[in-house]
Formats: sequence, structure tokens, C-alpha cells
Amino acid sequence: MLEISRLDAYYGRSRALNGLTFVVPEGSFFCVMGRNGVGKTTLMRALMGHMDRCEGSVRLAGADLLSLPRHLRPRAGLGYVPQGRGILADLTVRENLILGALCGTGRSAIDDRVLDLFPILRAFLDRRGGDLSGGQQQQLAIARALLARPKVLLLDEPTEGIQPNIVEQIEDVLLALNRSGMTILIVEQNVGFARRAAQRFALLERGAVAAEGPIAALTDDLVHRHMAV
Ligand SMILES: Nc1ncnc2c1ncn2[C@@H]1O[C@H](COP(=O)(O)OP(=O)(O)OP(=O)(O)O)[C@@H](O)[C@H]1O
Ligand SMILES: [Mg+2]
Repeated sequence: MLEISRLDAYYGRSRALNGLTFVVPEGSFFCVMGRNGVGKTTLMRALMGHMDRCEGSVRLAGADLLSLPRHLRPRAGLGYVPQGRGILADLTVRENLILGALCGTGRSAIDDRVLDLFPILRAFLDRRGGDLSGGQQQQLAIARALLARPKVLLLDEPTEGIQPNIVEQIEDVLLALNRSGMTILIVEQNVGFARRAAQRFALLERGAVAAEGPIAALTDDLVHRHMAV
């Protein structure tokens, strides 16, 4: 399980997370929600070690993550699909995938099972990442994160700006990964998706948890109070 406790995170001297606390049970599908600017991406960046400074504690299966430098977080078991996808446009699909594998495992092999999840990537291995469509880049970002062999997969709005049939495909892959035991921590603004897929949720306000619990407790009232709908 991933335990986030009294987590503060700073951009320079400005604090963007304020004592954020929740637990992601092992093997669960956990959805983080909230309006623009409440700190969802900052939370992901803090978990990955991309912030200027953090205080508090983050533990994965009991092991402290906050003291680990950023380049060791993938090896500690975190896979990251950033908001906006973060594909290296001038590298090929293959090279983007190899980077993911290297970061997480120190080895460059591309696991065939990951390509089986996204057959389009196998067909486009030698294309420039920048020449893929938005939906294809999102699939590449997920595949790249999976090649690091994560225990916990972090995804930041993976369905943002993507056409519905690819959204469905991405949802199916995430659900299948979760069924096979992977813990998923996802930032997702689509309430329908959250209710279908997640077991637990947290709603953020101003860098802290405003509401948290089993997905059945995500009432319409909470959605209206804490989301832009
Ligand atoms: N690089 C940065 N430097 C300084 N402040 C930042 C930086 N990035 C984000 N912030 C601030 O931190 C707060 C949280 O931003 P964050 O990107 O985490 O929000 P978010 O919940 O992911 O929003 P969105 O739904 O728009 O993606 C905001 O007030 C934002 O202005
Ligand atoms: Mg964001």
C-alpha cells in the first residue's frame, strides 16, 4: 500500500500541497479528483520527486519514498503517465519505450506483453513520437510507464482531450491491469469513469483532501461542491 501522510510540497517558496493525507490500498483503483489548480498534478509530481521541496511522509509497502532522489523512484515501483503525456517528440516510439524500460529496470528490453496491450505501437515502432496522434501518444505514455514494471501506476488525466473510442480502449487496459493486481492511482475528472472503475476516491481542495472514501460515498452533492460541473 501507498501511504501519503501530512505531505507538503513547494514550488520555490510557494506551498501547493498542505498536509495531504490518504492511503492507497495495495491492488486498488484509486481516483483523485478536484477542480483546476487544486494540486492534483502537484501530488503526482511530489510522488515522483519532481518538486523543489516536500515535507511529510510517503511510504510504499513500508519503504520511505520521499528521501529517494527522483531517478530512483521508478525503480522503487512507481510508473508515471504525466498530464500532457510527456512524449519525446524527436525520439521514435521504440526509443521512448526503451527509455521507460531503462528508467525502471536498467534494461532496454521491450516486453512483448506491453505491446500486446497497444498493438498500434508495435506497428509504429520506428515512427517519431511527435508524429503520433494524441490518443496514440497517450497509449505510448502508458506503455512507457508499464515497461518500468511498476507496482503502482500513476496517471494524470490520461483521457483528457482524447477521442471516445481511444478513451474506452484506455479504460479497458487500466481495468485489466488492475484486475491482474496492479495498483492504480489516477487523476480523472470524468465522474462516470471514476464510478465505474475506482474502489476509492479523494477530492482535493487547495492542496489538501476535502473528502475521501469508498467510491460509493462519492455523492452528487460532493461532486457539485468540489468539482467544476
Ligand atoms: N511550476 C509551477 N510553479 C509555481 N506554481 C505552480 C507551478 N505549477 C503549478 N503551480 C500552482 O500550484 C497549484 C496546483 O497546481 P496543479 O498543477 O497541481 O493543479 P491541478 O489540480 O493539476 O490542475 P489541473 O486540473 O488544471 O491540471 C496551482 O495554484 C498552480 O498555479
Ligand atoms: Mg493537473
